[in-house]
Amino acid sequence: MSKVKLTILYYSSTGTNYRMARAAEEAAKEAGAEVRLIRAAELAPAAAIESNPVWNSHLKETAEVPIATLDDIGWADAVIISTPTRFGNVAAQLKQFLDTTGALWAKGKLENKVVSAMTSASNVHGGQEATILSLYTSLYHWGAIVVAPGYTDSSVVLAGGNPYGTSLTTDMSGNFDVNGLSAVKHQARRVIFVAEALQKGWGIC
Ligand SMILES: Cc1cc2nc3c(=O)[nH]c(=O)nc-3n(C[C@H](O)[C@H](O)[C@H](O)COP(=O)(O)O)c2cc1C
Repeated sequence: MSKVKLTILYYSSTGTNYRMARAAEEAAKEAGAEVRLIRAAELAPAAAIESNPVWNSHLKETAEVPIATLDDIGWADAVIISTPTRFGNVAAQLKQFLDTTGALWAKGKLENKVVSAMTSASNVHGGQEATILSLYTSLYHWGAIVVAPGYTDSSVVLAGGNPYGTSLTTDMSGNFDVNGLSAVKHQARRVIFVAEALQKGWGIC
């Protein structure tokens, strides 16, 4: 059996979703997957980025992370997507990339990918669930197989109990409870488990 090919696609202004993506990468590699970690291209005007020193430095620090391409999506058996919550929705940078996947969709190249989504926000009830469900709407159109964490591990509850996908809450300084990364790792392992099961044609019910 060939290794599951996993693409982890994220957007992050100030580093939270980058760290979530890296945690997912670590767990997926440990689970035996071949992983590509890619970022949605920054589209904000330079003046907006430069007005926020954390945003500005994070962009420079992650310059070596490859920018997302359609090949990264077409290549993958499974895709994990991580986006900050923006006014209760998906970050525009991430959505812009998703809106370029129409060519793959038209060729049926998005069907049956195993997908799962994560987010972060600065309020406990800041729209995390709405963001993930909004992202899943696009992925349903892909014909993807959405694998949400549900309550399949105690780490989900400890991270705030979002069954749709891990959501971490950042404080005003951008800090978050790193224990929440256990839920990210569980979610990544679950994606690999389901993708492997599909590859093998095993019944997992
Ligand atoms: C334009 C904008 C809109 C935001 N909207 C929300 C929101 O609706 N709810 C919320 O709780 N936090 C909101 N935030 C805070 C971010 O979601 C939060 O800082 C996030 O954890 C940052 O992730 P990152 O470090 O990966 O960029 C917003 C931030 C910005 C800049």
